[in-house]
Amino acid sequence: MNLVQLVYASRMSGPLSMSELVQMLDVARSRNAQAGLTGMLTFGAEEFLQVLEGPADAVNALYSKLMTDPRHKDLVLLGYGPIAVRQFADWSMGFYSLGDDGLLAEAGLPADRFDPASMKFEQALRLLRAMSDRLGRAESGAGPAGTRAMSSRPREGAAPIRQVSG
Ligand SMILES: Cc1cc2nc3c(=O)[nH]c(=O)nc-3n(C[C@H](O)[C@H](O)[C@H](O)COP(=O)(O)O)c2cc1C
Repeated sequence: MNLVQLVYASRMSGPLSMSELVQMLDVARSRNAQAGLTGMLTFGAEEFLQVLEGPADAVNALYSKLMTDPRHKDLVLLGYGPIAVRQFADWSMGFYSLGDDGLLAEAGLPADRFDPASMKFEQALRLLRAMSDRLGRAESGAGPAGTRAMSSRPREGAAPIRQVSG
């Protein structure tokens, strides 16, 4: 199969509640599973960072939709290219809500600021991989094999996304 990986950063267009985000993820996960897409999504106060991987046609088609999705704006393509094997095979769309958990520093990034648009492809991938590892660790043993993609929900009690003005 002609597998590719795509990483982009974007900014929320306006306020997005955690429940709206969870609903969007539910839809995204079932669509991704059908299209053979895997990946990881994370966000800061106003920013998204997402990696998509799968057949080139499916990745390209989704990115076209993402470019016109009014829920976010200012998309920056950080990297795109062929891959031999998936790096996020466990997740139909893993979701990690970035907190004060030392993950930025672990990935070699400034710990005080999440600014995905300025990241290099390799830095962004390192961060997303670290998230995937943490999700995997947190959820290993949580259920039968293959259920992790569905259980990578926002953590219970996670802080709501800060309201974004304008
Ligand atoms: C930050 C962000 C990430 C998204 N991730 C996905 C995704 O992984 N898969 C997906 O099908 N849709 C995702 N969407 C939604 C798509 O932009 C789009 O709404 C969806 O594919 C349905 O498009 P359609 O109704 O025109 O077919 C995402 C949207 C946003 C704002």
